[in-house]
Amino acid sequence: MKLLITGASGLLGINLAMEAMREHEVIGVDRGKLKSAPFPVSKANFFHSHAFDSALDATQPDWVINCAALANLEECEKHPDQAKILNTNLPAELATACAKRNIKFIHLSTDAVFDGTKEGEYTEGDTPNPQGVYSQTKLDGENAVLSTNPNAIIARVNFFGWSLSGRRSLGEFFVNNLSEGKNVNGFTDVIFCPMWVNHLSRTLIEMLEKNLHGLYHVVGAQAMSKYQFGVEVARMFGLRESLISPQSVERSALTARRSHNLWLSIHKLSTDLGHAIPDFSTGLDGFYTQFQQGYPQKIRGYQQ
Ligand SMILES: NC(=O)c1ccc[n+]([C@@H]2O[C@H](COP(=O)([O-])OP(=O)(O)OC[C@H]3O[C@@H](n4cnc5c(N)ncnc54)[C@H](OP(=O)(O)O)[C@@H]3O)[C@@H](O)[C@H]2O)c1
Repeated sequence: MKLLITGASGLLGINLAMEAMREHEVIGVDRGKLKSAPFPVSKANFFHSHAFDSALDATQPDWVINCAALANLEECEKHPDQAKILNTNLPAELATACAKRNIKFIHLSTDAVFDGTKEGEYTEGDTPNPQGVYSQTKLDGENAVLSTNPNAIIARVNFFGWSLSGRRSLGEFFVNNLSEGKNVNGFTDVIFCPMWVNHLSRTLIEMLEKNLHGLYHVVGAQAMSKYQFGVEVARMFGLRESLISPQSVERSALTARRSHNLWLSIHKLSTDLGHAIPDFSTGLDGFYTQFQQGYPQKIRGYQQ
């Protein structure tokens, strides 16, 4: 199959491209960061260019996965207009362009559409209540995609892995700081379900192969606090977990409000795929194995 990935320089985009190219033809779209990636890349800035129709006609993909976004919560609060363009308008336009051509489309959304006040896990049937510009524009993106392209997949995600910048994911945050002997805070009151980005990538491809459609929670099988995540990373990498101070997110300097409970049910996903979702420890093993094999340096070498 031919897969077009927007946001190919991002944390998900680059890892998804590397994973998908084992079995499929991959074309990346980025705005100029990728230099020597092992797959063809075309350049587009989605603030200025809405030439999806000509890009899709030129490349004729079977599948499109939209990983482009303004995914930094603080940046979204500072630049709500940019957040709306990238997180709401762009997916809506891509969904329409794909529907017209019968191209299967996946759009990435977020666990943060929920306000985190529920006790227990959120299902796809629970009502979102976004707490900031990022989550509101992402929810608006979900609704716009599904209204114009009901055959599309919306995947609400949360993941960790190695990025082009070396600083994008929470996993990298703990590895980088603890390796340098720096003290960091770990939030004890933010619960999430982190998934290794390669597991996420394989799951997205499988969802396409099985021709699923609609809204799915695509997160890790285990819920934990961000503090606990940091401790698990420290133990796997042989770093000092005592450098991580347990802290409440309410005491942090972050301006965008964080939801406390982002425990998402993956029951619908595992039922429709017909198997269990990989567990957290397997993903953490994979993240560490990549580190040992020099994968972080390898992908960093793909940028200008
Ligand atoms: N990381 C997580 O754990 C997480 C959690 C929940 C949801 N998500 C969702 O998952 C998806 C992927 O997230 P990510 O962490 O991979 O994000 P990321 O690392 O920030 O990547 C975003 C991508 O969008 C591209 N982009 C930004 N502005 C653009 C523009 N004007 N024109 C063209 N491309 C542009 C970026 O290009 P540049 O490299 O040039 O900036 C980058 O390739 C997003 O939809 C995000 O909301 C992520």
